[in-house]
Amino acid sequence: MEQYAIKGGNPLVGEVEIGGAKNAALPIIAAAVMTNDTIHIDNVPDVRDINVLLQSMKELGVIVNRQDRHRLTLNASHIHGLVVNDDNIKKIRGSYYLIGSMLGKYKKVEVALPGGCNIGSRAIDQHIKGFRALGAEVKIEHGLIKTQAERLRGNHIYMDIVSVGATINVMMAATMAEGTTIIENAAKEPHVVDLANFLNSMGANIKGAGTDVIRIKGVQKMHGTDYTIIPDQIEAGTFMFGAAITRGDVTVKNVIPKHLESISAKLQEIGCEVEESDDAVRVVSAKPLRHSHVKTLPYPGFPTDMQPQITVALGLSQGTSIVTESIFDNRFKYVDELTRMGASIKVESGNMAIIDGVKRYTGATITVPDLRAGAALVMAALAAEGISIVEEIHYIQRGYEDFHLKLQSLGAQIEIVDSERELQKFKLKIG
Ligand code: EPZ
Repeated sequence: MEQYAIKGGNPLVGEVEIGGAKNAALPIIAAAVMTNDTIHIDNVPDVRDINVLLQSMKELGVIVNRQDRHRLTLNASHIHGLVVNDDNIKKIRGSYYLIGSMLGKYKKVEVALPGGCNIGSRAIDQHIKGFRALGAEVKIEHGLIKTQAERLRGNHIYMDIVSVGATINVMMAATMAEGTTIIENAAKEPHVVDLANFLNSMGANIKGAGTDVIRIKGVQKMHGTDYTIIPDQIEAGTFMFGAAITRGDVTVKNVIPKHLESISAKLQEIGCEVEESDDAVRVVSAKPLRHSHVKTLPYPGFPTDMQPQITVALGLSQGTSIVTESIFDNRFKYVDELTRMGASIKVESGNMAIIDGVKRYTGATITVPDLRAGAALVMAALAAEGISIVEEIHYIQRGYEDFHLKLQSLGAQIEIVDSERELQKFKLKIG
């Protein structure tokens, strides 16, 4: 099993190129089935979740060509089935975006219930409510979500909670429904807007994405397009917090600073300097870190996908901090691992971490519980005294392309090892 071997103590210093947003790429790729024309997509991250989705789409008959590592063409004119139930697809969350896109185009689809990171119960009632409101029948049987409709008809849908996935899924299905759909209390995340822009470039008529109310006028036909995915807000934020945690100086390049505002604001609050330019943000961590309180919220609030990274930083800050997780009900599992590295954190009611800052972390063998927590634990190991072994790194590879290589380019001592011999070699090399 591959592991990261890490020798902590080097600040991260330098520039790092941020890739395309995984959580935008997943629905955008799934939406490619909505036309028989060829779709070109640029800035697609080469990460496991995306590759799993592409593999499932190939099995459905979609022709997928990678023109280079980050540019894809997709053609779905010869789809030969409306059941998505291969072994891979259950591992990722984004698989359920094939419901919205295929229900929209074919008015029928069966998709295996989604997996994804285990960060709490992840209901799909709002997706189902939205599909039903558009006139679809929805059943869950034998591990499959089965949907079909004679016709989809636009409707007024109020989301009971703000859900990225439900907003995206219902928006896709409504794109090819008859008449107008209005989604109220919609998610406003940058990837929701990116998907709407992509669908509009295929001929859809969607207005208001990025606000609470999205208005979709159904169209009968979608066409080919050439589209570039937005930069990954969370990959960028992870490296920005990496600078804070390791007391470094990191410039994230190819980003949209507006998408990073809540992250930049918190970094400044805890004592980092943040400089923005057109498409880059520099974070310098020269002063001792200060405590803060933070609550995760839907965009433009502080993202739940950055909660472990800020907790790791606050664990090294002066004073007591409180981090409240308001999106998922079990997203502090990594705290036990961080405690092994010397952190002093108490989790109350499963959704609130009370953090007493410590001076330093110490290297340990730690197990990654999910994607973002994994990235945060790596940052903790990079700041820690001594050597850490990070296990179950496949979670990190779901969403971060070349994570260890990007960290190495910033001066980190990190390598992938998959045997005791390679670990010993790493130890000898770093002295
Ligand atoms: C997306 O998950 C992301 N995943 C997550 O990123 C991210 O943490 C999350 O949005 C919040 O920003 C993808 O885009 C593939 P939600 P999603 O629907 O769509 C509840 C990562 O690390 N809910 O906004 O599943 C739900 O239980 C991943 O990249 C319902 O109750 O999130 C949760 O508490 C992890 N009923 C809250 O809403 C529903 O029908 C927000 O979930 C849907 C959701």
